[in-house]
Amino acid sequence: MNATAEKPHAFEPRLTAFVCNWCTYTGADLAGTSRLQMDSNVRIIRLPCTGRIDPLFILKAFERGADGVIVSGCHPADCHYTTGNYHARRRFALFKELVEFLGLPEGRVTFSWVSASEGQKWREVVNGATERVRDLGPFDAYRALAGSPVAPKVQEAGCRP
Ligand code: FES
Repeated sequence: MNATAEKPHAFEPRLTAFVCNWCTYTGADLAGTSRLQMDSNVRIIRLPCTGRIDPLFILKAFERGADGVIVSGCHPADCHYTTGNYHARRRFALFKELVEFLGLPEGRVTFSWVSASEGQKWREVVNGATERVRDLGPFDAYRALAGSPVAPKVQEAGCRP
């Protein structure tokens, strides 16, 4: 039984996680094979390195129905491509300022470093991010603002996008 099943909520958020192949994806896999209990709200998108994660991916994820986003990769100095995570760290520092400027609630985007041996940390990141986004509620406002072509059709059907 996962943590979600123990305490029912009216709203269950959808989170998209952009993770690097070499550390966080392996750490998430370890969490799974170790049968650690965690919220099942996260869908993982595996990329070669956090250096490959364009901030526009995050905005696109929100536009396409995510209520929260996690970005995670190798710890500093552990990047498989030497400096990819340093580039990512700089990029996301700027992205954070953009997010604040746009007025997006801070808790919707979570940045973390999770190594291949940190299944337990991945579990904490997932559960923490899910809980924060659950408290913030659906992110329909962004989709309406972004003019998502999906949102009106789904709302006509009486569902959330
Ligand atoms: Fe993991 Fe670069 S390979 S952050």
